[in-house]
Amino acid sequence: MSESPRKILVTSALPYANGPIHIGHLVEYIQTDIWARFQRARGHEAIYVCADDAHGTPIMLKARAEGIEPEELIARVRREHEADFAGFLIGFDHYHSTHSDENRYCATFIYDALKAGGHIAVRTIKQAYDPEAGMFLPDRFIKGTCPKCGATDQYGDSCEACGATYSPMDLKDAVSAISGARPIARDSEHHFFKLADFEPFLREWTGSGRLQSAIRNKLNEWFETGLADWDISRDSPYFGFEIPGAPGKFFYVWLDAPVGYMASFKAYAEKRQLDFDAWWGAESDTEMYHFIGKDIAYFHTLFWPAMLHGAGFRTPTAVFCHGFLTVNGQKMSKSRGTFIRARDYLDHLNPEALRYYFAAKLGAGVDDIDLQMDDFVQRVNSDLVGKVVNIASRCAGFLTKRFDSALSDHLPRPDLHQQFVVAGDTIARHYEAREYSQAMRQIMALADQANQYIDEARPWVLAKDPASADDVQAICTQGLDLFRILTMYLAPVLPRLAERAGRFLNREDLAWAAREEPLIGGTIRPYEPLMTRIEPSAVEALLDASREHLAPTPTGPVDEPATKTPNAAAVDTPDSGSPAMEPIADTIDFETFARLDLRIARIAAAEYVQGADKLLRLTLELTDGEQRQVFAGIRSAYTPEALVGRLTVMVANLAPRKMRFGVSEGMVLAAGPGGRDLFLLSPDAGATPGMRVK
Ligand code: 2FM
Ligand code: ZN
Repeated sequence: MSESPRKILVTSALPYANGPIHIGHLVEYIQTDIWARFQRARGHEAIYVCADDAHGTPIMLKARAEGIEPEELIARVRREHEADFAGFLIGFDHYHSTHSDENRYCATFIYDALKAGGHIAVRTIKQAYDPEAGMFLPDRFIKGTCPKCGATDQYGDSCEACGATYSPMDLKDAVSAISGARPIARDSEHHFFKLADFEPFLREWTGSGRLQSAIRNKLNEWFETGLADWDISRDSPYFGFEIPGAPGKFFYVWLDAPVGYMASFKAYAEKRQLDFDAWWGAESDTEMYHFIGKDIAYFHTLFWPAMLHGAGFRTPTAVFCHGFLTVNGQKMSKSRGTFIRARDYLDHLNPEALRYYFAAKLGAGVDDIDLQMDDFVQRVNSDLVGKVVNIASRCAGFLTKRFDSALSDHLPRPDLHQQFVVAGDTIARHYEAREYSQAMRQIMALADQANQYIDEARPWVLAKDPASADDVQAICTQGLDLFRILTMYLAPVLPRLAERAGRFLNREDLAWAAREEPLIGGTIRPYEPLMTRIEPSAVEALLDASREHLAPTPTGPVDEPATKTPNAAAVDTPDSGSPAMEPIADTIDFETFARLDLRIARIAAAEYVQGADKLLRLTLELTDGEQRQVFAGIRSAYTPEALVGRLTVMVANLAPRKMRFGVSEGMVLAAGPGGRDLFLLSPDAGATPGMRVK
């Protein structure tokens, strides 16, 4: 390799510490991880850091709803996130939290520097205040009727029906999603970051090849609209860092979230004794890339570079935005079972299958990508199992059985080896440019060529003639040599498969340059299947498990992300809207509630369901003789024996749902985060089956 080693810092957006990782998140972590692994394979120093985004009102309220301290909630969620990421082979060098000493230090440092530079303004503004909850309300916690088109049930910042943007105080019939009270306007002193001070710098920065063209165009629109001051403070009660010198005022979650990249690196640098300033100083000669979703471009391409520049730090080399994930052509949906949590996926399917599928779909643009379930099964089975792994299984048997696992000392087609080696240059260019789909296409074309070589060389025919033994050994050696090169090209996407292939071939060096050395001489180890086919039934089981998570947990609107729209000026395109998932309802009206038929039920029988590791089949007795069969996802918390005879609460008028194991005729109510921490609701003594819950 002629290039001298680069020093590269890469990040993915920090997930909120109030909900599980789902496959929509994973597009980005997989995209980033592939890029970081690729850079390392090319001999560069690539450091990949991330963290949980732990502050803000939704997290504070979720902890409150669970009756725990926010610290306890974010510690638990962080453990879950880290386990999910590890399951998907996301190889962070360091995973941190924005609720950390390093982040407090960095956020305060940046704020102080901006203040000293005259870039912070303080003024009193009117804010919506919930007099019952005793707190100011984020826009997303206010619902009401759109002042422009009259659509009901709209959020406090923008109307999903007509796209209008407005201040929450303009909503008609506004109510607080926390208490149901009518918000009042109340004065509060807020701190603002004067973004417009940085307009000349930002115009230059955003125009110098750091951004994709779609994002640059968006920025030009934002420049035209004008760069408004950014409100970076929130009033107590708030879970975050108090602003120095401003008691009762806290940094808005989005102020210290990107600082989390710096804080995570700082913690890593301290552990590894790296020079922090060499990476973050204004004169740094290292590279820094942020992988993010297109919905949070505003924060990363305006606020964040301006904050860094204003505080005397280096700015990102580039920001790489990706699109959203749809499943079977539609937004992820809980009721369709396509809102798939990382953990559920891992319980049913191989993480490398999804890594490959995303890679096969990902380009460098901001287009949404679609996970078509049938196509997923077909593509993984045909490409990885049918083409790539098949080469190894075709060749290994001959060498093991007839040649005592010994490889030949030569390749019959060195030209083919060389052709595969040369193709690595184009594949590397595709990886570098984040054109993974093109890289995968080229790798699969090589796999076709390798299979064709074996088909034409026909070792199984030659094997019948003892005089051709050397040829058989050489052909199979060539097949494995080509297979090895393919696994090295796939290693950024399929690190586990590549590692196992390396062990099988006794060649564990996965560096890009190591592909040039032909696989000759030496021995191989016994072949074990490197990847097995995806059975469509496993996908069905995954969708069923995802539907099971529909079980309500009464935590109110706290799953709602902190608003992604920094000010009204940015809310004018679908790009700056919410990610591709169904909104979670904040409030329902009384009529909707009254339609719920909640009943006391006696659990007459409970049993395990074969083939479903989360479900129990319950027979619920409502009144004498009236029984319902309900499949409940509570097996992780209860044995059947523990349930029989007890009373619980069921939704009796839920439309029957056909599941893989039978029809479910209702739902039982449980609370808690899941796993062992699930608690079935029980009535007080005196209640009897069939009683209506009101
Ligand atoms: O949109 C989100 O999910 C945010 N938690 C992303 C933060 S990325 C960075 F700024 F920290
Ligand atoms: Zn409207």
